[in-house]
Amino acid sequence: MIKIAVLGYGTVGSGVVELIERNGALLRERAGEEVSVKYILDLRDFPGDPYEDKVVHDFGMILDDPEISILCEVMGGVGAAYQFTKQALEAGKSVCTSNKELVAKHGAELLAIAGRMHCNYMFEASVAGGIPIIRTINSALLADKVESITGILNGTTNYILTKMEKEGADYRGVLKQAQELGYAERNPEADVEGLDTGRKIAILADMLTGKSVDPDKVATEGITKITTADFAYAKAAGMTIKLLARCGVSGDGSAWAMVAPYMLPVEHSLGRVDDVFNGIQITCSMLGDAMFGGKGAGKLPTASAVAADVMDCAMHPGRTVMRAWSREEAVLSDTAQLESRFFLRVKASESGAVQAAFAGSVPVAAQREEDAGFFTPAMKERDCQAICAKLGDAILNRIRLV
Ligand code: HSE
Repeated sequence: MIKIAVLGYGTVGSGVVELIERNGALLRERAGEEVSVKYILDLRDFPGDPYEDKVVHDFGMILDDPEISILCEVMGGVGAAYQFTKQALEAGKSVCTSNKELVAKHGAELLAIAGRMHCNYMFEASVAGGIPIIRTINSALLADKVESITGILNGTTNYILTKMEKEGADYRGVLKQAQELGYAERNPEADVEGLDTGRKIAILADMLTGKSVDPDKVATEGITKITTADFAYAKAAGMTIKLLARCGVSGDGSAWAMVAPYMLPVEHSLGRVDDVFNGIQITCSMLGDAMFGGKGAGKLPTASAVAADVMDCAMHPGRTVMRAWSREEAVLSDTAQLESRFFLRVKASESGAVQAAFAGSVPVAAQREEDAGFFTPAMKERDCQAICAKLGDAILNRIRLV
């Protein structure tokens, strides 16, 4: 029998326990033996919960128990979660996690320990929830070179932007609704400022570059400045607005990563990835483009990814299946050098000056009197920024185009 411990009995932890119970027969058949939860570690007690007898408060019990070979770390954060993960791996126990903050910050170190101890640090659920993107890059694309990735990696912000687009609702109102529905946290900063997305793209960039990408150095813009007026122009141009995470390795070997709202055609493969869904487009040197989609958050979709990692560990005892990346820091190119077209929303009274400053810009007709919209020609971010700075408060918003 394979006995596991679940660290953290919150939404994802309870999902993992539920999945292992509900899919017990299937797991037994595939792993060749029964998979069962022996311990649930949490600070709290859960009186009346069907698994209350498995709840423990002392991590030492789990660490010292030779029957436990696999742990699921679904507690989050980089404090206790980091210490527990490190101790477990050092003891040769595999760890499966949904904790993107920890993977983004200490992934290289933890993977190195797993390699040394012939066990595994698995993190499928840390990026895009239930979508099997980590496994795809780690094994299905082993013979190919991933050149770039563009993704919608945050369900909360995608829900907010979709509501703004479809219902004309304003950002504040939709955020409140998302909080009431339990999608957005009471402190929504990590989601709406793009930090959660930044950690996820940093993990994918780690895998692309083979080096450690510091999530704090990923150029990140959130969705807080997007308004219903911006959506009016997007609609007039047959486009929508999505928070995209992008990373890639250029021909000269330099890497880049960024998170920002983008305007993209509705018929783009990510243009109709709506609500809390996530979508990822991968471009490979041999395969070309491939698209992945599904639920990027939520109890059972995330638990499905964690439990798949548990199965991988159970079916490969004594063998490290995840490729590690080096602790050497990847130097990211300055995104100010990247080129794209931009949508500019400007004061109606200043539209002549804006059009003169951005030679070759094309007006977007949205039947609005309050402001005017333009698409610039392709230009470097740095140059666009410099012209916008000179125009001062004439510029109401600036959104990159895909
Ligand atoms: N807050 C995250 C999201 C949870 O909305 O996508 C999943 O990582």
